[in-house]
Amino acid sequence: MKPIFKRIVIASDHAGYLLKENLKEYAAERGVHLQDLGTHSQASVDYPDFAALVCQEISEGRADSGVLLCGTGIGISIAANRFPGIRAAVCNDGVTSASLSRRHNNANVLCLGERLVGSEVARDCFHTFMMTSFEQEERHLRRLEKFR
Ligand code: RB5
Repeated sequence: MKPIFKRIVIASDHAGYLLKENLKEYAAERGVHLQDLGTHSQASVDYPDFAALVCQEISEGRADSGVLLCGTGIGISIAANRFPGIRAAVCNDGVTSASLSRRHNNANVLCLGERLVGSEVARDCFHTFMMTSFEQEERHLRRLEKFR
């Protein structure tokens, strides 16, 4: 697997911890390193703190993509989308969302909810998201420019 992104960071809260470990294993088996910014157990934490760790890496240019996991993917995506340059997409419904979020929205953070998606769907979403390019069409660029 050869992702279109060079450096991918990943984080979760306690409710996304097991899915984070699962996706790290999936990526590692395919030769892709995900830099893990926590959390490192199922002890309760606050998802905005982990959204911030990932988004600061991207906003400040040290990473170009991220994966964020919580119970639903919703809270952590709302927190992520407050950071400059972050386009976080919740893709719990599968590969079509993962693909379109890349092709039309140039999403740079994939969000998934461990309580809502199985590991196979999550792995497929991860694979699709990391392998799909933004379609550099004028209408997509124009729309993204409106909320940069
Ligand atoms: C944690 O219990 C849960 O609220 C959180 O992981 C997330 O689902 C919030 O959106």
